[in-house]
Amino acid sequence: MSKSYLITGGAGFIGSNFVEYVYKNEPDAKVRVLDKLTYSGNPENIKSFKTKKGFEFIKGDICDKKLVRSAVKDINIVVNFAAEVAVDRSIDEPESFLKTDIFGVYTLLDALRQSDCLQRFIQISTDEVYGQIMEGSFTETSELKPRNPYSASKLGGERLAYSFFETYGLPVIITRASNTYGAKAYPEKVIPLFITNLIEGLQVPVYGKGKQIRDWLFVEDHCSGIFSLIEKGKNGEVYNIGGSQECTNIELTKMILKIMGHDEKMIKFVNDRPGHDFRYSLDTSKLKGLGWSQKYDLQRGMQYTIDWYKNNEPWWKPLKKTLDKRFATGFWGSKGDRK
Ligand SMILES: NC(=O)c1ccc[n+]([C@@H]2O[C@H](COP(=O)([O-])OP(=O)(O)OC[C@H]3O[C@@H](n4cnc5c(N)ncnc54)[C@H](O)[C@@H]3O)[C@@H](O)[C@H]2O)c1
Repeated sequence: MSKSYLITGGAGFIGSNFVEYVYKNEPDAKVRVLDKLTYSGNPENIKSFKTKKGFEFIKGDICDKKLVRSAVKDINIVVNFAAEVAVDRSIDEPESFLKTDIFGVYTLLDALRQSDCLQRFIQISTDEVYGQIMEGSFTETSELKPRNPYSASKLGGERLAYSFFETYGLPVIITRASNTYGAKAYPEKVIPLFITNLIEGLQVPVYGKGKQIRDWLFVEDHCSGIFSLIEKGKNGEVYNIGGSQECTNIELTKMILKIMGHDEKMIKFVNDRPGHDFRYSLDTSKLKGLGWSQKYDLQRGMQYTIDWYKNNEPWWKPLKKTLDKRFATGFWGSKGDRK
């Protein structure tokens, strides 16, 4: 019998790519998307699924108990992508992060306590819950030291999910993935921001000297990691999902400039972000032990992503127009200017 999925945050970047991934691998799956359509939730991202039999969209908040109770009905697999996501926004305005990323997770878990058909609850967490690492890589048992309101809220949400596994026996799996890139990412994120700025002939704002190191994961590899866990993961466990593609922000910037045929005059160095984590790095051997491996190296994934943004201007142009100028220019003022 075909499985039924509830994908919360399914109109966002990774969530909508995951819906696509599910349909590719299980064409008969029933998929229900619950999404509040915040600034990054985009009806365009789910438009193509509307013709699928068994697809359903519910506009709503994961903090809404009544709505969530009806949304989880008859669902076998919940994948919770719904979240307030951007670190800069969390520094500016932390409250909505606490609401969605902690209370929202609780609301979903609580609604599922009575379910008699739930097989998996996948809580999408982030590598940022570990904080930064100077050398080596984080394993799933590394110390957890989030350093900004976004990552602290995500940690609250994932630990709550774990507590529902221990306390109520919910089939919870937690993922901690690294920085993800690909088609349909909201253009305030560094990669789409830089690509779309260059298409528009604008400079790209690099924080500090661009020395921070990130591990980049192509969105399809992120989705295949989650899918492997639905099939083969062990309940109550945490799994890292990483791209094993580490580079400094300045190296990343130069790579984008080179592929797009621009020189370094297009770089604008701006004030560093407060509490800017220096390096993230994940050990993914636990997930690889289940047979998963990433398919995209950074060069190939970046070429795909650049082509997608070049070919989909009607998708991002309207979003770019409404973007807070602080994102487009990277100018957030000095630390003292922040709330
Ligand atoms: N983007 C990354 O690099 C990355 C890396 C690791 C983990 N993650 C995690 O993956 C998940 C998805 O991230 P993304 O980059 O696709 O973000 P996104 O902002 O593109 O998508 C988030 C979606 O959640 C929806 N949403 C927000 N609050 C909601 C609420 N209260 N109720 C219902 N829907 C709500 C938004 O409308 C949006 O569609 C998040 O949980 C994030 O923490 C992201």
